[in-house]
Amino acid sequence: MYEDVSEVLLTEEQIQQRVRELAEQISADYRGKDLLLVCVLKGGILFLTDLMRQLEIPHAIDFMAISSYGAGTESSGVVRILMDLNTSIEGKNVLIVEDIVDTGHTLDYILRNLSTRRPASLKVCALLNKPSRRQVDVPIHYVGFDIPNKFVIGYGLDFGEKYRNLPFVGVLKPEFYR
Ligand code: PRP
Repeated sequence: MYEDVSEVLLTEEQIQQRVRELAEQISADYRGKDLLLVCVLKGGILFLTDLMRQLEIPHAIDFMAISSYGAGTESSGVVRILMDLNTSIEGKNVLIVEDIVDTGHTLDYILRNLSTRRPASLKVCALLNKPSRRQVDVPIHYVGFDIPNKFVIGYGLDFGEKYRNLPFVGVLKPEFYR
């Protein structure tokens, strides 16, 4: 698997260090509040579980699965919910946990949808951010890393459902996706 990677963009150590910093900040910001982490499947799972282990405050978790329609790997902006939350978020402090924000369409949809359910607060924590790809302006309150516009895999991110288990974020060799 590692031989499919042309470059390691973020090492396991860099990711884990940044996750610790984010968790420290989130713990301080949400101390004494009813925190619900909403993980967006599937990419967000590794980030969620590492973040949870580092949080110093009580919190609940829930999951959503989203699908975006589009030609090939491009997001079309047409998004729908494949799997919804199990619980009501009314009155809760919701923190969306995403692996990556690219065009912003997915997050924009989730934010619009969840905000109608009257949470006490609604914020976003994304490990990776590709600002150069943005088509919709979305708020990201906690960002792990701003990254360049490269085809990234690992740490939850897939290509054809593979590579999600890599502990680092790498760039896939072009011969694998061309
Ligand atoms: C990825 C990622 C975000 C979304 C970001 O999910 O996890 O949810 O794309 O892209 P956008 O900003 O252009 O909308 P993907 O649809 O690849 O599903 P997955 O997490 O199951 O791999």
